[in-house]
This record gives sequence, structure tokens and C-alpha cells, in this order.
Amino acid sequence: MHAAVIPEAGAPPVYQDHPDPTERHDELAVEVLAAGLHHLTRAKANGSHYSGKGMYPLVPGVDGVVRDKEGNVRYVVLDDTALGTFADRTLIDPRRSVILPDGVDPVRIAAAMNPAMSSWVALRRRVEFRAGQRVLVLGATGNAGRMAVQIAKLFGAAHVIAAGRDAARLRALTALGADETITFDEISRAADVDVVIDYVWGEPAAGALIPMLTARADRAVPLTWIQIGSIAGQSAPIPSAALRSARLQIVGSGIGSVPARDILAELPELASAVTAGAIDVRVRAVPLPQVAQAWTDETEDRIVLVPQPPRAAGDAASGS
Ligand SMILES: NC(=O)c1ccc[n+]([C@@H]2O[C@H](COP(=O)([O-])OP(=O)(O)OC[C@H]3O[C@@H](n4cnc5c(N)ncnc54)[C@H](OP(=O)(O)O)[C@@H]3O)[C@@H](O)[C@H]2O)c1
Repeated sequence: MHAAVIPEAGAPPVYQDHPDPTERHDELAVEVLAAGLHHLTRAKANGSHYSGKGMYPLVPGVDGVVRDKEGNVRYVVLDDTALGTFADRTLIDPRRSVILPDGVDPVRIAAAMNPAMSSWVALRRRVEFRAGQRVLVLGATGNAGRMAVQIAKLFGAAHVIAAGRDAARLRALTALGADETITFDEISRAADVDVVIDYVWGEPAAGALIPMLTARADRAVPLTWIQIGSIAGQSAPIPSAALRSARLQIVGSGIGSVPARDILAELPELASAVTAGAIDVRVRAVPLPQVAQAWTDETEDRIVLVPQPPRAAGDAASGS
């Protein structure tokens, strides 16, 4: 079979021949239909993600849509492995997968599940979110942020504020359900939210705290800040006054802070929401042989790698 292979940390992937997977224990060998190139995929591949052990050579790909031998199409989240989903075939633990309904678009599911899961799982499994609460999404123009706006509305948020650094890009969020869009320097307008879904962290998140908290109508009302992404910086200099002067609680949501069984339990309903079109998905499908180019592409769409079926004998000769 063919796979994308990263020989060592920091190296780009190379599309090459790779040994076929051999089933062991409870694993299933499956055909890969589509696999998303997420931030997590790159971070695990370059060894910078806390959940990765850094095994090389590595076939990247942390999740994807696959077909098993019975013909079931599944969305799967892989555990840490040297054989990911950027391959014609891979190995899965079926307990970490959900069988998808007939007729799903594998590319759309592969693009959506990782970014959508971040806010879906956080609001369902990490904090006590209630319909009627007010939500701020920091970093709302990204794939995960756009979905967080939609998912907060889907879960009954009374008011959703989409925040980011680019006013022009933020405007598109209104069509997805945002009640307000604001740039970071207008952050005090979000003072009275109940929940913050933060994909940004770093200086922008730390800098938002005091302006938000000082403008808050009642600082004794709980404010839950969910740290999900750190696109602007791995560390944030949180002022101590922020933690003392208001009822602020900062929690993280990701692999480890939510048990794997809780994340997996949310997959069927999330997959149904994506399939039903309840969540808008931006996606660009790329043939797996073009993985090296895709790896460094800067695009707003989520790139999804699609393995190429082997050509039937005679295809090349016939030109078909
Ligand atoms: N914990 C989890 O479960 C989980 C799951 C999925 C994703 N994540 C994390 O969430 C983050 C966002 O993921 P994504 O898929 O939405 O990424 P994405 O589609 O690439 O979007 C990136 C977003 O970050 C913003 N951004 C980039 N650099 C910034 C900076 N220096 N200051 C402020 N904003 C900045 C971008 O704003 P512009 O539009 O202005 O460029 C855009 O909104 C990543 O760190 C990812 O690893 C976590």
C-alpha cells in the first residue's frame, strides 16, 4: 500500500510504499476513505503535542473516515500510534469509532469532527453549560471557532459573541449565528458572558481578562473560561488580580482533561449533526499523493487527504 511517512521529527511527509498493516489483538485493518489535516495532526507529527510519544518513522493522521471489511463506514479517533490515517489502510480499535449512516460524505465528516468536537465535548462534558447562557468564542474565525459559534447556538446559548483579530473575517460569523462580532480591542463588550471558549490563549487571552472583568456588571457571577487551543501562544501571563477580583474559573478541555470514553460517547450525535448539515464545514479535499504540498499549504479550509484507489490493470494504457 501507499502512505505518507515522516522519517523523523520536523521532516515533511513523503508519499511512498509502506507495509500493509497486520491485525493484532482487538485491532481491525480498514481502508481509509478520508483523513483531516488538523493542528493536532501536525503537532503530533512534529513531536510538540503533549499527547504524543514521538514515534518515528511515523504515518501521521489522528482520525478519519474508514471502511471495515463488512463495508461499514466509520469515523475513528486513533490512539497514539506510528500508523495513522494518512495511508491507504490502517489499524483501528473499533471501540474508538462510530459507524456512520449510509450515504455520508467521508470528506465532510473527516474535516468537521476534530474542530467541532472541541467545543461540543467542552460544553457537554467539561463544564456545566446550560441553555440560556451567554458565550464568547475567542478565535472565532478558525475552523474550530466557527463551529463553536454554531454549536453554542445549537446547545441553546442565548447570546454568542464571536471575537478575533480580523474584523472583515469576523463579519462572516453573523451568518453562522453569532449575535455580535468584536475584535480583541473591543473585548470589554463581552464582559457579561458566562462561558468563554478560547482557541487563542497567549497574550490575546491574558490581555482580555482585566478589561472584561472590570467591565462585568456583577463580578460574583461565575465566569468559566475554557482553554481549548493555544494558537497565539502556549503560555499566557494571567494577572493574579483576574483570579481574585471575579468569580473566574479557568479550565482546559482536550485529550486527558476529558476521559476518552466521554469523548467517544459524544461522537454519534456529533456525526449526526454534521451529516444533517447542522454545522457548516469548510473543506478542501486533496489526493493523498499530494500530501507534501498540502502539509505546508496555508488555507482557511480544512484540508482532507483522500487515498487514491489503485488503478486497474490497463488504465494507464487506455488513458482512462
Ligand atoms: N483541545 C481540543 O480538543 C482542540 C480541538 C481542535 C482544535 N484545537 C486547537 O484550537 C486552535 C484552533 O484550531 P482551528 O482548527 O480553528 O485552527 P484554524 O482553522 O487554523 O484557525 C486558526 C484561528 O486562530 C486565529 N489566530 C491565528 N494566529 C493568531 C494570533 N496570533 N492571534 C490571534 N488569533 C490567531 C486565526 O485568526 P485569523 O482568522 O485572524 O487568521 C483563526 O481564527 C488550535 O490551537 C488547535 O490546535 C483544540
